[in-house]
Amino acid sequence: MTDTPTLPAVSREWHLASRPVGWPKPEDFAFVEAEVPQPGEGQVLVRNKYLSVDPYMRGRMSDAKSYVAPFELGKVMQGGAVGEVVASNAEGLSVGDHVLHFFGWREYAVVGAKNAVKVDPDAAPLSTYLGVLGMTGLTAYAGLLRTAAFKEGDTVFVSGAAGAVGGQVGQIARLKGASRVIGSAGSDEKVKLLTEEYGFDAAFNYKDGPVAEQLRAAAPDGIDVYFDNVGGDHLEAAIGSLNEGGRIAVCGMISVYNNTEPAPGPKNLARLIATRGRIEGFVVTDHYDLQSQFVKEVAPWVASGELRYRETVVEGIENNLEAFLGVLRGANTGKMIVKL
Ligand SMILES: NC(=O)c1ccc[n+]([C@@H]2O[C@H](COP(=O)([O-])OP(=O)(O)OC[C@H]3O[C@@H](n4cnc5c(N)ncnc54)[C@H](OP(=O)(O)O)[C@@H]3O)[C@@H](O)[C@H]2O)c1
Repeated sequence: MTDTPTLPAVSREWHLASRPVGWPKPEDFAFVEAEVPQPGEGQVLVRNKYLSVDPYMRGRMSDAKSYVAPFELGKVMQGGAVGEVVASNAEGLSVGDHVLHFFGWREYAVVGAKNAVKVDPDAAPLSTYLGVLGMTGLTAYAGLLRTAAFKEGDTVFVSGAAGAVGGQVGQIARLKGASRVIGSAGSDEKVKLLTEEYGFDAAFNYKDGPVAEQLRAAAPDGIDVYFDNVGGDHLEAAIGSLNEGGRIAVCGMISVYNNTEPAPGPKNLARLIATRGRIEGFVVTDHYDLQSQFVKEVAPWVASGELRYRETVVEGIENNLEAFLGVLRGANTGKMIVKL
């Protein structure tokens, strides 16, 4: 085993203490100290440098049946993370290597070599492997191109457009020849970012008035694709503006994640008949086969600045929970990242 002699004895980590009902409260979580673990055969010890906080984590805090198992009560939570190998007991991974893995919400993690993906800190900033070149980037790429079957000339509407996934959806659509790209977001500053930096043709603040009216004004000729990050009135508005042959990719429904009662469905689903519209949900983990194509196509756009991205970086493991809650409240622009 190769290791560095200066490892601390204690690692701080976040546990789920109870399952939140409605909006998560600080008492649903515990910030605890644990012994720094030793890597076994085929494992490495990683000092995490960047942690991801994502809306889907709210789902894992509940024990409702879903596509991914719930977080266990009294145990450290999980999430995307990038860190540096500080001790190795695994062939092919050495001290000093950087890896992407799934053991976030903690300072130090023991990771099996087969669960660690080596990343190059010189090829791109480490945090981007969690965002624009990582899981949220692939979500945007797969959801737009495969699930929504985007084609050149489409008019595309995306909600949550100043967030990690949404900002990339709109820009990929623009770069691939959309005739019009429209986004919605929750502040005037975010709306300005969409039109002035990300190159959206139109954008609106969904808090300014009914989404259906604002969408009709922004897309007078209707929309061909809706990429849904929000659900609720956004989804109903999109169905109301859908053109014949329109496609709706349901990526997320953040407006309902903290509901304690089921949200009512869209009142206008019957429009899907006349429009021959299609609505389809997707999960990014079903689309890992697109990973290399995604990086090959998107990384050069990021490097050249043709595709812009933002990150909201919160410093310190002690602020991991606050960063997560911030995502649910809209405190982030682009990918929310915790830097250790
Ligand atoms: N299907 C998949 O495989 C997959 C993978 C990744 C993510 N997702 C989903 O994709 C969506 C975006 O994820 P992300 O990681 O890119 O997060 P994000 O968009 O960076 O952050 C979430 C954003 O949602 C907005 N929001 C919060 N409450 C809202 C509400 N009631 N109505 C409208 N907007 C609201 C906030 O922005 P505003 O200031 O604009 O309100 C917030 O910044 C989420 O629904 C997530 O669950 C799905």
